[in-house]
Amino acid sequence: MQQRAPPLRLPLHLLLLLVPALSEVPDHYASPRVGSGTRTGLSNAPAQEYLDPTYPVPRPPPVAPTCVVPVLSYSFANTYGAPPAKAAYAPPAGCPAPWSLVVLSFSVAIAGDQYDRVAAVWLDGAELLRTTTAEPTPDGVRWTVRKDVTRYSALLRSPPGGVLSVMLENLVNDVYTGVYNVSVSLEFHGAPAYLVNDGGSSSAAGSADPGQKLPASYFQPADLILPISEGTGNSSGFWFRIQNSSDCRSKLVSIPSNTYRAVLEFFVSPHSNDEFWYSNPPDLYIRENDLTTGRGNAAYREVVVSVDGHFAGSFSPFPVIYTGGINPLFWQPVAALGAFDLPTYDVELTPFLGLLVDGKAHEIVLSVVDGIAEWLVDANLHLWLDPASPNVSAALSRYRTPRLSITRRYYTRQPLDGRFEIRAKRKSRFSGWVNSSFGNFTTDVETELEATSLVEFTDQGRNKTVRLQAEQDTEVVVRSSETRKEVGKVETEAKYPLWLEMVTEDGENGTYVMRANLTHSLIVETDAEAEGLFDGETKVVDEQAAVGWMLVRDHDVLDGSAATTQAYRYSDEAGKYERAIDTLDGAVLSDNVTESYRALGDGLAWLAAGAGPAEGGAMEL
Ligand SMILES: *[C@@H]1O[C@H](CO)[C@@H](O)[C@H](O)[C@H]1NC(C)=O
Ligand SMILES: *[C@@H]1O[C@H](CO)[C@@H](O)[C@H](O)[C@H]1NC(C)=O
Ligand SMILES: *[C@@H]1O[C@H](CO)[C@@H](O)[C@H](O)[C@H]1NC(C)=O
Ligand SMILES: *[C@@H]1O[C@H](CO)[C@@H](O)[C@H](O)[C@H]1NC(C)=O
Ligand SMILES: *[C@@H]1O[C@H](CO)[C@@H](O)[C@H](O)[C@H]1NC(C)=O
Ligand SMILES: *[C@@H]1O[C@H](CO)[C@@H](O)[C@H](O)[C@H]1NC(C)=O
Ligand SMILES: *[C@@H]1O[C@H](CO)[C@@H](O)[C@H](O)[C@H]1NC(C)=O
Ligand SMILES: *[C@@H]1O[C@H](CO)[C@@H](O)[C@H](O)[C@H]1NC(C)=O
Ligand SMILES: *[C@@H]1O[C@H](CO)[C@@H](O)[C@H](O)[C@H]1NC(C)=O
Ligand SMILES: *[C@@H]1O[C@H](CO)[C@@H](O)[C@H](O)[C@H]1NC(C)=O
Repeated sequence: MQQRAPPLRLPLHLLLLLVPALSEVPDHYASPRVGSGTRTGLSNAPAQEYLDPTYPVPRPPPVAPTCVVPVLSYSFANTYGAPPAKAAYAPPAGCPAPWSLVVLSFSVAIAGDQYDRVAAVWLDGAELLRTTTAEPTPDGVRWTVRKDVTRYSALLRSPPGGVLSVMLENLVNDVYTGVYNVSVSLEFHGAPAYLVNDGGSSSAAGSADPGQKLPASYFQPADLILPISEGTGNSSGFWFRIQNSSDCRSKLVSIPSNTYRAVLEFFVSPHSNDEFWYSNPPDLYIRENDLTTGRGNAAYREVVVSVDGHFAGSFSPFPVIYTGGINPLFWQPVAALGAFDLPTYDVELTPFLGLLVDGKAHEIVLSVVDGIAEWLVDANLHLWLDPASPNVSAALSRYRTPRLSITRRYYTRQPLDGRFEIRAKRKSRFSGWVNSSFGNFTTDVETELEATSLVEFTDQGRNKTVRLQAEQDTEVVVRSSETRKEVGKVETEAKYPLWLEMVTEDGENGTYVMRANLTHSLIVETDAEAEGLFDGETKVVDEQAAVGWMLVRDHDVLDGSAATTQAYRYSDEAGKYERAIDTLDGAVLSDNVTESYRALGDGLAWLAAGAGPAEGGAMEL
């Protein structure tokens, strides 16, 4: 076994300067004594329930049978280097598939001192959730992540003998005493008869005019999900641990020869020297200033998949900040965007089915452009199967390897000042047809990824500015191969601007003060339409702004103050949901929820529920 760098948030032994140059930070910190209400002059009681506001998991349809399956309870104490915790899983007899909704609940309680950690849940080697933990206070904190996992129905249906694994590498000693108590359960909601009979999972026979309409099953959960993950997962989890840009990890898969649609869903999280990749300076700066940090290789990253040596898709990862990152006081009790449920990324592989449906094994390769140690990456291959034919025929009809165009402008001035700009762009267009019993359809996938990054050090390295603007637009268009008529289209625009400013000042006795300002957003707009099925837009705007200071020795926060505002907004054809939270020094000052719904087919009136506290305000139809 190769020796790998521990992905633990241990203090760096490399901070040689008394006042660290900001190239050595942002870093991860533990805030053991702050946030426990002992700060002078603060009257707000710190919250114990931590959260990451997102759209509430949809309500199950009325009269659906409901079953809750507690799958695993485990105390993650000194689990570093240990295999994942495992538990047997079988679908509930009382709520057989198909399900209208399945929800995974991941609940955590912890007291003491501890760093944030990364964790994942896998079912038979396919990932269901990637999450990171909050840092505890001595009085204890808890939180619950609820994720809609209906899209993994194919895995959840698996016959008895299933194994659910949870990895959370923790380290407990005299100083870091926190033990993560985790429980995982699954909540199944059956599909009432009126839903099963309506549209259903449709067979081709239903269509009088094949080739003119996509089947409803095209937009339902996949029929089969194959894990693109590391071996048996018993030693160090099912994720691939990617160490550098040439560290390509691959898996050989054979897919059923009647696959008519394929989507690869990625789970990624950067750690160690790449945890703050968006703020890493180039190696040139590190060398010129004789720094010892390994956090270099500049601030561009892109995750790439290839199929049998063909580049098949890529994305710019959303910069998730874990709860010990930048200033841990920012993330009490609201976690940074996505920290409790990391975003996943879908790459449409349908145009490449022509390479895959021959019943033979093919190589899927995952890699990280410019990545350094280490990235935890794996993926799920979602496959939709033709119910009426043992074979599809398919071909990749338009393919050219897309080029990454990247411009770097680096400027340095001794000591420790520098300005590093990167502009990157990649445009790709792939096209392929698949003839199944539903007809002959051509899928065009067009992607444009654009990122600009700025990392700047001024005031002899004590002032640092980071600006990242990543934008990825994807258009998937499905046409009848004969008539060229469009039968389905999904357009997605994702943007993630991040702005961060930090200043360090000398403190007394080996301490320093760091002030930071941050704004961070995740904006995703999706416009989807399918002939005879639906036509609609959804928009998510999730934003945070935080400002504060902290007094630090080594990696411990001794004192500080921070204010965070969080605004989450979701809207679609049926209504909208907004939640705005103001926090100060670990306490929630206000938490406003506004919801409005349109009753479809029932007067189409918007019923607005007034603003108010989280408990009030909501109105259901
Ligand atoms: C975690 O579980 C252990 C063992 O059941 C229990 O003693 C401890 O109080 C729990 N911790 C928290 C914070 O709930
Ligand atoms: C790893 O797990 C697999 C399947 O769960 C099992 O067959 C194998 O024996 C395990 N290997 C080790 C070294 O524990
Ligand atoms: C990249 O990582 C792999 C896997 O750890 C290692 O074998 C290889 O030597 C590394 N390559 C470079 C250039 O560091
Ligand atoms: C499926 O495809 C294989 C190989 O292309 C072919 O040999 C076989 O006859 C096909 N089967 C059917 C039922 O079409
Ligand atoms: C397309 O697929 C259908 C169903 O598998 C098959 O009946 C038909 O012959 C195929 N068309 C061609 C031109 O191969
Ligand atoms: C830090 O640098 C930024 C960008 O150069 C500048 O706007 C800001 O005024 C500086 N702050 C301090 C305290 O020097
Ligand atoms: C499907 O359509 C494409 C594009 O028009 C065509 O080249 C191909 O031969 C068709 N396939 C079948 C099996 O009909
Ligand atoms: C400096 O730190 C040491 C060890 O933490 C402590 O004993 C000493 O009292 C501190 N001095 C001042 C001036 O804070
Ligand atoms: C943070 O923003 C506030 C308000 O915009 C400003 O007064 C302060 O100087 C900023 N601090 C830093 C470190 O940039
Ligand atoms: C919540 O609503 C109250 C009353 O309208 C307002 O004063 C407060 O600023 C709002 N909080 C947020 C975070 O929007």
